[in-house]
Amino acid sequence: MNQNSGNDESKSLWHGRFLEQSADELQKLNNSISYDIRLFSQDIEGSRVHAKMLQKIGVFSKDELTEVLLALDQVEEEIQSGSFSVLPTDEDVHTYVERRVTEIAPSGARLHTGRSRNDQVATDLRLWTKEALTDVARMAISLQRALLEKAKEVDGAVLPGYTHLQQAQPVPLGHHLLAHGWSISRDVERLLQAIERMDVSPLGAGAMAGSSIPLDVDAVADDLHFSRVFDNSIDAVSDRDFVADALYVLALLGIHLSRIGEEVIIWSSSEFGFIELSDSFSTGSSMMPQKKNPDIAELARGKSGRLIGNLAGFLATLKALPLSYNKDLQEDKEPLFDAVDTVSNILPAVTGMISSATFQIEQMRDQALSPYLATTDLAEWLVQRGMPFREAHAVIGQLVARALSEGVALEDLISMDENLGEEAVSLLEEGRLFNSKKTHGSASLEKLADQIERFENKICSDEGKL
Ligand code: ARG
Repeated sequence: MNQNSGNDESKSLWHGRFLEQSADELQKLNNSISYDIRLFSQDIEGSRVHAKMLQKIGVFSKDELTEVLLALDQVEEEIQSGSFSVLPTDEDVHTYVERRVTEIAPSGARLHTGRSRNDQVATDLRLWTKEALTDVARMAISLQRALLEKAKEVDGAVLPGYTHLQQAQPVPLGHHLLAHGWSISRDVERLLQAIERMDVSPLGAGAMAGSSIPLDVDAVADDLHFSRVFDNSIDAVSDRDFVADALYVLALLGIHLSRIGEEVIIWSSSEFGFIELSDSFSTGSSMMPQKKNPDIAELARGKSGRLIGNLAGFLATLKALPLSYNKDLQEDKEPLFDAVDTVSNILPAVTGMISSATFQIEQMRDQALSPYLATTDLAEWLVQRGMPFREAHAVIGQLVARALSEGVALEDLISMDENLGEEAVSLLEEGRLFNSKKTHGSASLEKLADQIERFENKICSDEGKL
């Protein structure tokens, strides 16, 4: 895109009312075309549909419509190929497209009939966001699939589960991976819900009060594949909830990616040694030859900060706006584009990092077999023999305290204890340890198979909605 400087011939959209040209300082601050040019496809499609409707209600003749549609095609082609130049008076993509169409086809001067940039920008941005969130949802599903494949691949692998980053209870690795998978699954749900909520056409709301021209708002909404039409023209041009919804959903998705990243960082440390990243999804050091760094995981963690910033900043922009349209609303695009770009960069990288990683199954298993991780099961074993849980907790707790202070093996104390003995020691055997859990969705290898099935079904059903 070329930016032409000063052009005496160029006129603003409001030149009728104004005697003087816009100041450079105003244009520099006011113009949004450098970033809202991203909306050109939506803007041109909206104009095609609007023009067709205008022809049906007699604003354009058939020939004029043909001429305008051809001009719209040409403008689209020019933008796609980058062979277009922008004048200082081309404030935004809407102004540019209308100016250029009218240069090519003089009847373009009727194109803005019954329309304002206020309903136009709301329309373009809803169309853009629906598409962008659909793409993000597809990428999120790919990550779910990567987690699912890993969960299947590491069948039988176990590791210590953590609370407070202290070893807690043994869990199947697949169970842990799907815990991340379910959080991404809720992100996909939220994306779908946000798409559904923003699926409303604002066209026909005009500047804020609608139009005296009998526009067919339903036909326009239909042709643009919106499922509904706005109910209130003031709301239609003022509402940016859909942007806030998108930013929230993207921020939360980013936070989930950050939590995955954080775990990969910890697990890939020499101290944990639970995961080995593939060379192609990690980086080296320019100075320390031995280093292998989890940059993708760190960027997933780091970039969640700007996603939260985009949401918080935009909510602050909206907070005290009076109805209806205010130029403040132009501030919706940059955070939205940035959030979509950021998440769209992170998701495939995290997916690739997970798919190509190797889990250090032996190292995890050794840790998971610690008898200390079985103490909750031992207490529950006593409960099943009639002891109140609080008492059982204390019995086992005392054995733990003794083992630690006397430096003896916990297994020995268990086998010598009058309440426990050899039968209880057999609970520490590998197979029993990892299959002791009976409840729905719990951390046993047996229960994991059902969960994997539910997870797979959920992915398929969400995919069907995209
Ligand atoms: N570029 C503007 C925006 O993004 C388009 C709407 C301008 N409307 C107006 N009344 N100045 O919000």
